[in-house]
Amino acid sequence: MRAAVLRATGDTTLDVVDTIELDDLGATDVRVEIKATGVCHSDLHGMDGALPQPAPAVLGHEGAGVVVEVGPAVTSVSVGDHVIVAWTPPCGRCAFCTEHGQPQLCMEIQFQIAVTPRFREHGEAIFGFVGTGTFAEQLILPQEAVVRIEPDIPFDIASLIGCGVTTGVGAALNAAKVRPGARVVVFGCGGVGMSVIAGAQLAGAATIVAVDLNPAKEEAARKFGATHFCGPDDLDELKGELTDGLGFDDAFEAIGLPVTMRAAYDAVRRGGTVVIVGVGRAEQTVSFNAFELFFDEKTIKGSVYGSADVRHEFGRLLRLWKAGRLDLEGLITKRDSLDGINDAISELRAGNALRTVIEF
Ligand code: APR
Ligand code: ZN
Ligand code: ZN
Repeated sequence: MRAAVLRATGDTTLDVVDTIELDDLGATDVRVEIKATGVCHSDLHGMDGALPQPAPAVLGHEGAGVVVEVGPAVTSVSVGDHVIVAWTPPCGRCAFCTEHGQPQLCMEIQFQIAVTPRFREHGEAIFGFVGTGTFAEQLILPQEAVVRIEPDIPFDIASLIGCGVTTGVGAALNAAKVRPGARVVVFGCGGVGMSVIAGAQLAGAATIVAVDLNPAKEEAARKFGATHFCGPDDLDELKGELTDGLGFDDAFEAIGLPVTMRAAYDAVRRGGTVVIVGVGRAEQTVSFNAFELFFDEKTIKGSVYGSADVRHEFGRLLRLWKAGRLDLEGLITKRDSLDGINDAISELRAGNALRTVIEF
């Protein structure tokens, strides 16, 4: 079977090979044939080690496809069902899934699948990225890691829901709970940042400032709902003009750098909310002085997987897409086969892409 493999952490390219096999299916597992997968910046974080990922590993986590085999104890899906892969599968039983109502923080299944290789190559174990591995023709997942969708949803559209769109739109709707009329700023205009912008627009934000180093992102940012665009150095001036110098109600960091996390904190008004969506490195820190944390009364929160329950959220986002209220086609800047995976990775690293969708 064909798949794209990270041989060692720190490698800058993936190895596309035909020699990958799958383990046998467990009783509650499903085998999914991947039809489309997006290339997300988190895959790059897996390559560079920002996200801890044992290697060798089949990368990819933003995918959609068809269930082609189910274990004897599987109850939630059947062969032939179209599904989106959920990289944080809710177990349904732990404290996060039940009393806290935060299934996106459930680690019960996630931890298990992340450390259990389900791919093989010449007998050697190959892991799957964060327990998935959608840069492969097929993969094995626990039944909780797939969410059934209507069969009329195109796979390219569905794949995007599997990570970036849910992460970004959810950060606006579920984590910040952006209010109609709000003034927001979004740092980073990749697939995730654009989805934050789209989410803020859906929520009725009056002002949406998109910040990116790459001026070529302006056109798309405006298409997704940004009312203003600037580089990081020009934000202070724009903040002065747009918020009477007070600051934005909500800021989103969708890059993963300490400098932009700190800038997001500085960009919001007293009492405002900062949502960290970007994945930073564990060895890097962000500084706050002891007085401002009290005096500014700002809320700083992380947002994992759109702070959403994938079992409902994927369907909600697809309804918004079907109703013409969420542009997903516009996120696809390129389509390619798995052979183009390293080009897609270079584009993403250069900050040029929104999403390349790999189609099988
Ligand atoms: N200031 C402003 N913009 C920047 C900076 C910076 N210092 N550094 C990078 N950018 C911009 C890039 O130009 C690019 O447009 O941030 C954007 C990042 O986009 P992508 O690489 O496409 O990343 P994306 O897939 O959107 O993910 C963003 O969210 O979920 C996380 O792991 C993901 O940390 C990643 C982040
Ligand atoms: Zn759980
Ligand atoms: Zn992702």
